[in-house]
Amino acid sequence: MKKYILSAIAACAIIPVMGAIPVYLDDSRPIEERVEDALGRMTTEEKVAMLHAQSKFSSAGVPRLGIPEFWTTDGPHGIRPEVMWDEWEQAKWTNDSCTAFPALTCLAATWNPDMSLLYGKSIGEEARYRKKDILLGPGVNIYRTPLNGRNFEYMGEDPYLAGEMVVPYIKGVQDNGVAVCLKHFALNNNEVNRHTTNVVVDNRTLYEIYLPAFKKAVQEGKAWTIMGSYNLYKDQHACHNQYLLNDILKGEWGFDGAVVSDWGGTHDTDQAIHNGLDMEFGSWTNGLSNGASNAYDNYYLANPYLDKIRKGEVGTEELDDKVHRILRLAFRTTMDRNRPFGSFNSPEHLEAARKIGEEGIVLLKNDRSLLPLDLSTPKKVAVIGENAVKMMTVGGGSSSLKVRHEVSPLEGLKRRLQGIADVSYARGYVGDPTGEYNGVTTGQDLRDDRSPEALMAEAVDLARNSDYVIFVGGLNKAAGQDCEDSDRSGLGLPYGQDALIEALAKANPNLVVVNVSGNAVAMPWVGEVPAIVQAWFLGSEAGNAIASVLTGDVNPSGKLPMTFPVRLKDVGAHALGAYPGVKRVDSPIVDLEYKEGILVGYRWADTKKVKPLFPFGHGLSFTEFTYGNPVADKSVMTDSDTISISLDVSNTGRTAGAETIQLYISDPKSSVIRPDKELKGFQKVFLQPGESKTVRFSLNKDDLSYFDAERHEWVAEPGVFIAKIGASSGDIRKTIKFKLK
Ligand code: BGC
Repeated sequence: MKKYILSAIAACAIIPVMGAIPVYLDDSRPIEERVEDALGRMTTEEKVAMLHAQSKFSSAGVPRLGIPEFWTTDGPHGIRPEVMWDEWEQAKWTNDSCTAFPALTCLAATWNPDMSLLYGKSIGEEARYRKKDILLGPGVNIYRTPLNGRNFEYMGEDPYLAGEMVVPYIKGVQDNGVAVCLKHFALNNNEVNRHTTNVVVDNRTLYEIYLPAFKKAVQEGKAWTIMGSYNLYKDQHACHNQYLLNDILKGEWGFDGAVVSDWGGTHDTDQAIHNGLDMEFGSWTNGLSNGASNAYDNYYLANPYLDKIRKGEVGTEELDDKVHRILRLAFRTTMDRNRPFGSFNSPEHLEAARKIGEEGIVLLKNDRSLLPLDLSTPKKVAVIGENAVKMMTVGGGSSSLKVRHEVSPLEGLKRRLQGIADVSYARGYVGDPTGEYNGVTTGQDLRDDRSPEALMAEAVDLARNSDYVIFVGGLNKAAGQDCEDSDRSGLGLPYGQDALIEALAKANPNLVVVNVSGNAVAMPWVGEVPAIVQAWFLGSEAGNAIASVLTGDVNPSGKLPMTFPVRLKDVGAHALGAYPGVKRVDSPIVDLEYKEGILVGYRWADTKKVKPLFPFGHGLSFTEFTYGNPVADKSVMTDSDTISISLDVSNTGRTAGAETIQLYISDPKSSVIRPDKELKGFQKVFLQPGESKTVRFSLNKDDLSYFDAERHEWVAEPGVFIAKIGASSGDIRKTIKFKLK
C-alpha cells in the first residue's frame, strides 16, 4: 500500500505547472541536472525496473515519466534481425535485412582510422534507422591464440592498433545518438569454457596488453556503455567484478557510462549490486540458446534486489548510482531530440562496406607478380573452393545477420570478368553445406554427395585447362571454426583443403589462394603457391571487394593485425601449454594462467626469435615503396618532452598505392623484460607513382614506458631507445636511436 502512496506522491510532483517544462525534459539544461531531476521523481520500483531486461534485447524506461525503453542489438558487423519479444525465434519481420560490413579483423587490417570512422558512422545509421539505442559492439579483446572462435569480431593482437582503430568507430556510431557497447570486458580471449574460465594474469600483462584498447575506448572514444564478459577474473565473474569494474573502469578510468552484462553473464544479486554492474541482460540463457520465458522479474537485479532494499539489507546508494548512469545514457540516446534519423541499406552503406573490404584485404605473397590478373588477352579462369560460393553472413553466433544481399566471390569475379575472361567453377571439397543460424537461412543448397576424390579430380582437371586458378577456401562460421561459443581444434585448414591446394599447385603454376577467415591458418603449401590473399569475412560486398583487388582495380593495402604462425607451438600461449587451462577438482571452474605474460603475438615471435609464416603488420602492394632516413627533432628527450621523428616515403613503382608505415619502440637495456619491439605509431599514406610524402610520428614518455605492477604506475627507464620503422614487424627498414634523460 505504502508503495502506491509513494508512487502517487511522486506522480503528483511532476504534473507540470502550465507552461513550465520539468528540468529533466528541458534539453537546454546540462545532462547532470536533468539526471538528478529525473532521479528525484522516480520510485524505487521504477528505478529497479531500469536495471534489467524486459525482453531478449530491451530494457524498461519509465513509462510514467515518458522516459523511453532501451533497445539493444548485435553488433558488431551489421544490425541483427529482430527476434521475438521473449524467445530467440525470428520475429519474421520483412524489413530487417541489413547491410553487412566486413568483420572487425578486416577493419583492423585497413590500419586506417578514417575507415573506422566510416564504419562506425554507417553501422550507427543502420542501428538508428532500425530504432536501436545500443549497438552491442565493437570488441577489442586481444588476439591471444589463433584458436579463439571469436577473433574475427575483434581487432587483432596489438593493444595500440586496436586502441587507435576502436576510437573512431565509437565516434561514428555515437554521433548518431546510438551508444556503443564495448565488449567483452575483460580477458575473454577464448570461447571454450567461456562461462567458467578464471583468468590468472599478472598486473603488468593486464595493464600493458589486455586493458589499453578498452581504456582508450573509454577515455578517448567516450564509449557510453561497456559489456562485462562471461569469464572470471580473481574468482569473480567479470560482469560483477570489483577489480575490473569498480577499481579500474569506474575508479581509475572515470567511466561515466553504464556497465551492461553479457547475456547470461550475471550470477549473483549481491555481487551485481556492489561490484559495478548496471544493466542485466539475458539471464538464464547463454546468449545463444533458450532460457526460461518471462523470467525478467526474477533477474538478479529485479525482485531479489527490491526485496533486499525493502528488508533494509541494502541501502539505495548503489541503486541511485546505477540509475544515474542509465539516465545519463537515456539523455545521450533515446531522449536526445536532436539525434539524426539514420538510414538503412543505402547505396552509401554498400559503398562503405566495399571500400573497407578492399582496404582490409591483405596480399600475403605475390611471386612473379602473378597478381593482378593479366587480362590483356582473353583468359580462362578457374574458380575453385566452397568459400567462393558460400554465404558467410549467416552463422558465427550473435554476430550472425540477415542481409539484403551478399555478393559471393564467384559472383563478384564473374561480374568483373564478364566479356574479358571465361570463368568456370568447381567446388573441390565439401565443408559445411548448412546455412542456417537462429532461424535465418541462406537459402543456398550446398549439399553435394560426391566423394572427396571425385570433387578433387574435377577441380584438378579444371585447373589444368585454365590460365589462372583462384582457390577460395579457408574457414567458415560453423561451430568449431570462426564461431562464438567454441574454439578451433587446430591451426590447420579443415575439410582436406591442404591436399587440394597442393594438387592444384601441381596442376597449374598460376594458382592464387584466397583465404577467407578471421584467424590465422597454417599453410604447409606456402612454398608451392605463388600468390596468397587474406580476405577475411567481408560482408555484403565480399565478392566485389575481392574481384577489385585480384584484378588490380584496387591496389591492396591491408596489413595483418595478427601474426600468422607456422605452427601452433610458435604462439606463446601454446608453447607454454597455457591454453585452455586446468579444471579445478570438484568445481566447474577452469584456471587459465596467461603464462606468456606480455609476450603476445609478435611480441613473443620477435623476442623469442621464432620466424612467423607472415609477421604482424605484413601486407604487400602492387607497387614499391622506399623509406628515406628518419630524422628526429632531438637526440635527448626528458620525461615531459615529446620527440618527433619524420621520414620521407616514396612510391617508386608504377601504380598508385598506399603504404602503412609502422613505428616500433625497443628498449634494449632495461631492468625488466621488454618485448623486442612494440608498436607505438603507424600512418597510412596514399601515393601516386613517383610521389613522396613526409610521415611524422610523435612519441612521449608513455610510449617508452612499461607498467610497474608494484608501484602501480607506468615507468620509462632513462637510457637509449630505438625507434624501428618498417613495413611490418618483420620488415624493419630504418632505425633511429635517442635517449631519455
Ligand atoms: C555474446 C554477446 C552478444 C550477446 C547478445 C552473447 O552470447 O557474447 O557478444 O552481444 O550474446 O546476443
